[in-house]
Amino acid sequence: MYLGLDLGTSAVKALLADESGAAVGSQSVPLQVIRRQAGWSEQDPQSWWDATNRAVRSLGAKYPEQMRQVTAIGLAGQMHGLTALDANDAVLRPAILWNDTRSAPQATHLDTVHAAFRQIGGNAVMPGFTAPKAVWMAENEPELFQRLATVLLPKDYLRFQMTGEKVSDMSDAAGTLWLDVAERDWSDELLSICGLDRRSMPRLIEGSEVSGRLRAEIAHSWGMDGRPVVAGGGGDNAAAAVGLGIVTPGDSFLSLGTSGVVFTVTDHFAPATDRGAHAFCHALPGSWHQMGVILAASDCVSWLCEITGLTIDTLMEQMAQTDPAATDLMFHPYLSGERTPHNDADARGGFFGLARHHGPGDMARAVLQGVGFAIADATDVLKEAGARPERLMATGGGSNNQTWLSYIASLTGISIDLPADGDFGAAFGAARLAMLADGADSADVCRKPDIKLTIEPDRELAKKLNPARDDWQQIYQLLSAQKNRHPNG
Ligand code: XUL
Repeated sequence: MYLGLDLGTSAVKALLADESGAAVGSQSVPLQVIRRQAGWSEQDPQSWWDATNRAVRSLGAKYPEQMRQVTAIGLAGQMHGLTALDANDAVLRPAILWNDTRSAPQATHLDTVHAAFRQIGGNAVMPGFTAPKAVWMAENEPELFQRLATVLLPKDYLRFQMTGEKVSDMSDAAGTLWLDVAERDWSDELLSICGLDRRSMPRLIEGSEVSGRLRAEIAHSWGMDGRPVVAGGGGDNAAAAVGLGIVTPGDSFLSLGTSGVVFTVTDHFAPATDRGAHAFCHALPGSWHQMGVILAASDCVSWLCEITGLTIDTLMEQMAQTDPAATDLMFHPYLSGERTPHNDADARGGFFGLARHHGPGDMARAVLQGVGFAIADATDVLKEAGARPERLMATGGGSNNQTWLSYIASLTGISIDLPADGDFGAAFGAARLAMLADGADSADVCRKPDIKLTIEPDRELAKKLNPARDDWQQIYQLLSAQKNRHPNG
């Protein structure tokens, strides 16, 4: 039996998979994000570890026999978070998460002054990544930064609790921006620009290699007979790709989670930094990927539910009463700033065209279309970078929404495959990486799921949506130009 653990932003998920690779069951425990200031997003690493223990124990209560037989564990998680430990391995401050934008000035400085970040790290420096967060800490919390002895990524903090090993995998390590992504090794140059060196960094392995063994007392408290090995695992997107069988160059997926991601596999390091495409290692040896990331996808829908006080089901019912092709109301989904294509932490969301007759259903339609426009922008950036995604496999909570998928298929011109019911997220990918670390063969393990439905681009819908997308893009350009003219306005 195999256990996959995914440390998400809103929950920790534990999933059991059997020897055939089938998911047996899963359990999630929610996490809270702390927002002490506008633009900040933090979590207490101890809350990750507590939630992990609760998730595994309650899964074990449902499947005690299967939990006893676990021989390998895989880890996946939210990328980029800065988890800072002192020389005694005590946590120095709350972890600064991927969607925290406080380090925008530091990111701009690193990006404009040090060309090495784009050349070696393969990415424009954005505030989401780990490197500018460390520089923010050095500038704003110098006494804490002086005590910084180890930097870990979120899922690697769980590994440290589980095994005592400080280890990361290549896909997650690439998201720090301290990795030489082509060489799959830490870059001394990039680390030293940030006042760090490789002594502060975890040892690197591939996602499918073994990082260590679960501590005996934890294995016991989780109800396991032996001491399972713990695989390197992956950043959540790379792990989800493994779970979906997106492992061959050209294979691509679309994720509609809190963030929105278009991910495509490459057989070499293929940076395309100009319009905010990410180029990272994949979680499997000798493999890389390109990614376009929008910071708020399903998060925009959650936000609309919060401010209208309506459940998602009610909101979608009201939306279904409206014309799906209407574009009189538009929405910018930049609630947390934006990465691809704008690399603009100060970008902001907005509704444009509101009229007295508009209600929550119209706003919901505008939100789904607006996120669709942003996904189409990110896909265009990957295409400009040479990617040729022929089809996209859909994953993430938002992928259950066929209207949303139809908008995205029509706007991108790419067919979207929806996997048959099942659990193909990052926790499942982590369980697959555990199987590989336990000696299974990649061709056997990394199969693609059966497809229950393919959403084809709808030309008529595209004809109606595309002009609105042009206007929508121009509104961003106007607002951004105005902001640059009146930076404090
Ligand atoms: C990827 C990214 C997000 C987080 C979400 O670069 O920042 O997808 O990994 O968990």
